[in-house]
Amino acid sequence: MYLYFFKDKFCKDAYLPIEERAVNFGDGVYEVVLSYYNKPFKLDEHLNRLFYSASNIFLKIPYSKEEIENIVYEGIRILNIDYVKIYVQVSRGSYERMHEFPPNEVESNFFIIFRLFKPIEESIRFNGVKLFTYPDIRWERCDIKSLNLLPNVLAKEYSKRKGGFEALFIKNSKITECASSSFFAFIDDKLITHPLTNEILAGITRNEVLNIAKSLNFEVIERPIYVYELERIEECFITGTTTEILPVKSIDNFNYKVGERTLKIYRVFKERIL
Ligand code: PDD
Repeated sequence: MYLYFFKDKFCKDAYLPIEERAVNFGDGVYEVVLSYYNKPFKLDEHLNRLFYSASNIFLKIPYSKEEIENIVYEGIRILNIDYVKIYVQVSRGSYERMHEFPPNEVESNFFIIFRLFKPIEESIRFNGVKLFTYPDIRWERCDIKSLNLLPNVLAKEYSKRKGGFEALFIKNSKITECASSSFFAFIDDKLITHPLTNEILAGITRNEVLNIAKSLNFEVIERPIYVYELERIEECFITGTTTEILPVKSIDNFNYKVGERTLKIYRVFKERIL
């Protein structure tokens, strides 16, 4: 169950040349959006972030925000299934390999993949998942959703081989975020997450969770959590477009319970997406 949008049309088959900047350099940006029952969740925010990422690497997106919105709605309509994972990618185009930008007339390559999404089983969600820490060896612009994901790939594989679901990045003894999700913890009854800086992605789910937490009158603090605080965590969870809100049951050798505060936030989130 999938559908592509490439070169101005919907199709089931599409190819990029091997002399393509996404392939050769990871020279591009992307977004992942989830659609629930024909409603792409926070599409506007995702597209704003796509344009933010693109402008920060001087990349032109060949469609306006409104045009992309229309393409997304049309793709969802054609596919006609309940849960759709929508992957949007823009690269600096296809041209003979050279590090500097190709000539101006080389057009960006834009495509969207619409694919059936299988939600995480509720039993996994209510049991919690394991995280393993990994050094944050990413670049200094993690606020850009760039195609360069090698550190994330290595971190996730490391965690997977140990039986984990996600990798938790550590930079200068501080938790930044996970390989493909944001991280939150309750410590001393306060909900804590890394502030929005160049060291993390401004997660759309992260923002929603902060709003929900405030509406539930939880005290929220945006500050980095230190590794030495791992033993003081009362509850923790990760957030992201595909993970939604996922309780954590362990980080390395520290074990946590899936707590009521996390589940309360999850229940409100669930109401908002449906
Ligand atoms: N990842 N941090 C990183 C490094 C991410 O890659 C993601 C999303 C998030 C969560 O952001 P959001 O809530 O906006 O999805 C945080 C996507 C899902 C991915 O790469 O597949």
